[in-house]
Amino acid sequence: MTKLIDLKKNDNIEECAKCVKNGGVIIFPTETVYGIGTNALDKEAVDKIFTVKGRKSDNPLIVLVSNTIMLNKIVSNINEIHRKLIENFWPGPLTIIFDKKDVLPENVTGGLDTVGVRIPGNSVTRKLIEKIGVPITAPSANISGKLSIIDASVAYKEFNGKVDYIIDGGISDIGIESTIIKVENGIVKILRCGSILKEDIEKLGIEVEFSSIPSRNNKHYDIESDAIVVTGDDTDIINKIDEYISNDIDKKIGIIGSFKNYDLFSKRVDKYIKLDEDNTMKNLYNILNEAKEADIDVFLIESVKNTNESQVIMNKLMQVSNNKII
Ligand code: TXA
Ligand code: MG
Repeated sequence: MTKLIDLKKNDNIEECAKCVKNGGVIIFPTETVYGIGTNALDKEAVDKIFTVKGRKSDNPLIVLVSNTIMLNKIVSNINEIHRKLIENFWPGPLTIIFDKKDVLPENVTGGLDTVGVRIPGNSVTRKLIEKIGVPITAPSANISGKLSIIDASVAYKEFNGKVDYIIDGGISDIGIESTIIKVENGIVKILRCGSILKEDIEKLGIEVEFSSIPSRNNKHYDIESDAIVVTGDDTDIINKIDEYISNDIDKKIGIIGSFKNYDLFSKRVDKYIKLDEDNTMKNLYNILNEAKEADIDVFLIESVKNTNESQVIMNKLMQVSNNKII
């Protein structure tokens, strides 16, 4: 049976921490998205995470620690650039790929000799790890191929009966997964975009390039209907949506669009989900979940611009649409 712990009600996390240390599996909040955790040093416990997520065993898990002493126990070859990044971005949503030590079982990293680690920004998560006393696994709390989860009640629907505890810490502050980087020959390679942007790292005087996670799973942003990102300036976007709706009368069409275009299009389509430009990152997975729940053939998604979040939001939206744009 899955036990629910509500942090707003000051529910006790002692018992839950003990359970994790002994190989139990929990869903817990972080500032990015909810994670699935167990004792990362316990090979059998780690196996359970792959089963619960339905994840292929060669897809590595990232690991959370509560301080750098714990970090030093599991990774080696920390260099000057790593140190600069740690000083500036930890605790926070930056996962750094390090060389791993043997104390981490092989299944954590899917056989790789590197491991992704961060100290989470959420103080509750850090306290939890401190209580557990060992590094914990932290893949996003979703069945493999489904959307990430930022709300404990959604996690409960998906994982009730499959994990020992679900800790409700409210809606995740940031709402999208951490930025993942690797340092290679003095250059920071961004393997996955997140709320820490290329420019944020460049400000430290470090050279940064975009790269990608080897064999990344594109289905991660599957909303179970087709999706097309609509690009251009405000007038282009209106014209393109208008044309698409006028021509495609046989399909159930949805729009994920701006507040300002709501009156224009909401009555002409089967579903209009408003995209709050001030809060897109935080709401992204709620919006995508709502789109997934809707019975729609194709979603037209307005491109996002003019905010410093746009780069990362567009990156996610292009994954949702499988790079389809009009
Ligand atoms: O914000 C986050 O990072 C969330 C929270 C819960 O911590 N976790 C998360 O984990 O997004 P996950 O497993 O959904 O995504 C981690 C990605 C995966 O695509 C995995 O393949 C990649 O990181 N990854 C993990 N270890 C790696 C490594 N050593 N080298 C390259 N890629 C790695
Ligand atoms: Mg994930």
